[in-house]
Amino acid sequence: MTSCIGIGVIGFGWMGQVHTRAYERVRSHFPDTPLRPELVAVAEGDELRRKDACARHDFSTATAEWRDLLRDDRIGVVSVTLPNHLHREVGAAVADAGKHLWIEKPVGSTVEDARAVADAVHASGVRTAVGFNYRNAPAVERARALIAEGALGRITNCSFRLLADYAAHPQAPLSWRFDPRLGGPGVLGDLVSHGADLARYLLGDVSELVADTAVFLQSRPPARAAVSHFSVAEDGGELEPVGNDDYAACLLRFASGARGTIESSRVSVGDQCTYGFDIHGTEGRVSWDFRRMGELAVGVGGRYLDQPTATVFVGPDSGDYASFQPGAGIAMSYDDLKVVEAHRLLMSVATGVQYGATLDDAVASAAIVEAMLESARTRRWVGVRN
Ligand SMILES: NC(=O)c1ccc[n+]([C@@H]2O[C@H](COP(=O)([O-])OP(=O)(O)OC[C@H]3O[C@@H](n4cnc5c(N)ncnc54)[C@H](O)[C@@H]3O)[C@@H](O)[C@H]2O)c1
Repeated sequence: MTSCIGIGVIGFGWMGQVHTRAYERVRSHFPDTPLRPELVAVAEGDELRRKDACARHDFSTATAEWRDLLRDDRIGVVSVTLPNHLHREVGAAVADAGKHLWIEKPVGSTVEDARAVADAVHASGVRTAVGFNYRNAPAVERARALIAEGALGRITNCSFRLLADYAAHPQAPLSWRFDPRLGGPGVLGDLVSHGADLARYLLGDVSELVADTAVFLQSRPPARAAVSHFSVAEDGGELEPVGNDDYAACLLRFASGARGTIESSRVSVGDQCTYGFDIHGTEGRVSWDFRRMGELAVGVGGRYLDQPTATVFVGPDSGDYASFQPGAGIAMSYDDLKVVEAHRLLMSVATGVQYGATLDDAVASAAIVEAMLESARTRRWVGVRN
C-alpha cells in the first residue's frame, strides 16, 4: 500500500523548481515508489517566486520564513535548495527537526559546513539525498560497472572536465555565487564539487593532489534582484570585485595508484556544460560527455594496439534508464537525473536503507575542494582528509 509524505521546499530558484518537478514526476516513472510525495509548503525570500511556486504547483502554503516548514507536521521531507552559505544552518535544522533531507551540493561553503550537516543527520537518523546528479546518469552507472568488472584493466589515468560559460559574460551580475561569504569557493563549490564526487564514485578515494586556481574576470556589476545563474545585467552599474575563483586545475593521485586531472571554469567562452571524463586503464578506455548523456565511448577488447573505440548508446540495462525510455538511443534530460535522485531518497525513507549520494559523500567531495584550496595557496602537494 502506498502512503503519502508531505514535501517542503526551501529556496524556489532554479534548483527549488527542479526538485519540485522531480517530486511531481517521480511516481509516474517509478510506480513502485512506496511513498507518494505531496507538495505542502515552499519557503522563498522573493515574493514573485513565492507566487510563482503556488501558481504553477500544488503547494498549499508559501512563506518567507523557512523555519515555518520545520514546525509543520504535514511535512516529512524537506529540500534545501538555497545559496551555499545557508546550507549548514538550514540543513542541520531540518535534520534536528526529524525531517528527511534532500540538500543541494556542495552542502555549505567548507568541509566543516558539510560535516556539521552530516553530524546532525547521523544524530537524528533521518534519510538524505545530496544533489550530485551526474552520478545518476545511466551512462555513468554503466561506466562505473565497466570499471568495477575490470573491462578496462587496471585504471592508470583519467581526466575530469567541468567547463562552463555561465559567468563568461563580463556583465554577468555579482549574484551570491561570486561572494565567498554567500557562495563559498566559487567554481570549486559550484562545479569542482561535482567532479570530485564523480571521480570518487567511479575510481575511489583521492589521496593527494596539487592545484592551481585563478580569478580571470576580477569585477562585475552588482545584482539588483533575484537573478538567475545565467543572467546578464542590462543597466550595468559600477563594477564591484569578484571574491572567489573562476578557474581551478588539479593533478590527483588516487588511493588505487591511478593518476588524474580535474579542470574547471565558469568563464570558459564557447563551453556550454562541457562536463565529462576520460578514463584509461591498462586494457581499455571509457569517455562520457554530459551533453550527449546517453552515449559512452568505449574502447575494450584486448587488442592494446589500434584498439577501436565504439560509441555505445546505453539502454534499459543501464542504471535507471528503463524507468524513462524503452530502448537505447532516446535522450534523457537533466531533470530526469533529479527524478532518479528523488526516487532514491523516497526509497531510502521507505526502507531505512540509504540509496544514492549521502552527506558523507558531500563531506568527501568538500575535503577534495579543501585540499585544492590549500594546495593553490601553499603551492604544494596536499593530502586529502578522507
Ligand atoms: N546539482 C546541480 O547540478 C546544481 C545546479 C545549480 C545549483 N545547484 C545548487 O543549488 C543551490 C541553489 O542554487 P540555484 O541555482 O537554485 O540558486 P538560485 O539563486 O536560483 O535560488 C536560490 C533561491 O533561494 C532564495 N533564498 C535565498 N535566501 C533565502 C532565505 N533565507 N529563505 C528563503 N529563500 C531564500 C532566493 O531568493 C532564490 O530564489 C546551490 O547550493 C547550488 O550550488 C546545484
